[in-house]
Amino acid sequence: MSNPIISLSEMTDFQSKEDEFSPHHWYRRMLKQDPVVYNEASDSWHVFGYDLVKTVLNDHEHFSSERKRTIVNVGYISEDDNNNEGEHHIPDRLDIHNVDPPEHRKRRSLLAKAFTPRSLRLWEPRIQALAEQLIAKFAHQPVVDIVEAYTSVFPVMIMSDLLGVPSKDHHLFKEWVNQLFLPSTHTTFAEINEMKRTAGEEYFKYLYPIVVAKRLNPGEDIISDLIRAEVDGDQFSDEEIVRTTMFILGAGVETTSILLANSFYAMLYDQPGVYAELRNNPELIPNAVEEMLRYRFNISKMDRMVKKDNNLLGIDLKKGDAIVAWMSAANVDERVFEDPFTFNIHRSNNNKQLAFGYGTHFCLGAPLARLEAKIALSTFVQTFSRIENVEGFILEDNLIPAAAGQSLGHLPLKLYT
Ligand code: HEM
Repeated sequence: MSNPIISLSEMTDFQSKEDEFSPHHWYRRMLKQDPVVYNEASDSWHVFGYDLVKTVLNDHEHFSSERKRTIVNVGYISEDDNNNEGEHHIPDRLDIHNVDPPEHRKRRSLLAKAFTPRSLRLWEPRIQALAEQLIAKFAHQPVVDIVEAYTSVFPVMIMSDLLGVPSKDHHLFKEWVNQLFLPSTHTTFAEINEMKRTAGEEYFKYLYPIVVAKRLNPGEDIISDLIRAEVDGDQFSDEEIVRTTMFILGAGVETTSILLANSFYAMLYDQPGVYAELRNNPELIPNAVEEMLRYRFNISKMDRMVKKDNNLLGIDLKKGDAIVAWMSAANVDERVFEDPFTFNIHRSNNNKQLAFGYGTHFCLGAPLARLEAKIALSTFVQTFSRIENVEGFILEDNLIPAAAGQSLGHLPLKLYT
């Protein structure tokens, strides 16, 4: 199998995991370089500036999502997928990530039926209850590993709950998600891909009967919404629905977990005063979440394939070229954000951050992710008067690779009620 992964380690010059976790100095350098950079080792083009990133993400006439190579492999890639043929592909009628308009618009509007403002209102009390449940488990401890106890569990519990899976099985979801979305490199790709295949099969065997049962007895959950959805009088098969839930998990679990863990890191290490400010003024939390996404969510980048020869970015790009848009770098572009390398929860334009992408493929789960973050933080700050870092914490030793960069594997903190 030819390797479909564009390896970004061949592009960046990070000397440590910590460098990759806090890449602002590298972004600063890249933003000062030529607007479009070619990297020979990975045979790919890269853009960092705010406006060009937006162009690449949104101009689907020239920059296609129907790509042959990608920076992140989530889930299992079969030989057939890689050749774009065969049976084991993600279902055509529901896959929205790898298609361009006009087909994309039709499919997106179907999936969007499961992510309406009404759904969010229905889900809010369930999300709130899960946050309270998790916090109650560690509320009396003097020290907690917030990643293990809270930030890595909360999003996967929410997603399994919203899919309509029994709560006693939420832990199974966590294990499958951990395996299905393990990052890989050129050398580990084959081995990890095989692990993902096994996890994918187990997941499928577990979820398929749940979908069949919900078809007979639908409820208020994402799977039931997808069962009810119709395309031109046609309905999705049970298999398509199972595969789509896998995509939703891939898109929504690790990303939100990282946002939450990094938010705690920001409150402990970037600006310790922020915690007291949020406890006293919880109405600041939504804007603080935007700033976390802008300043501390540094893994946001997305690839496209050049669809036809063009010079839109000021250089000649050829059909088939791979191009990467670095949204997290655009989020510290001083042409848009004043004093961009300062973490400032009062920043008035941080909702211009591009962590959720831009335009055509803008994250369908963004309202849900924002709601999860708001509830996770507000429930936490209402419970604890103060948090403090634990002496001797070494960031480098606590970082682990995620699908698109470094993430916190552990983050111990002291709790005060
Ligand atoms: C902090 C959390 C999240 C971040 C940073 C994030 C980021 C992104 C980005 C950058 C894209 C655009 C991809 C592209 O341009 O090709 C995207 C798409 C998407 N995201 Fe999210 N996401 C998050 C959470 C979620 C959640 C919670 C869900 C659902 C449960 C979700 C579902 C989706 C879906 C379905 C798409 C595909 C949209 C399309 O192609 O039209 N995401 N996300």
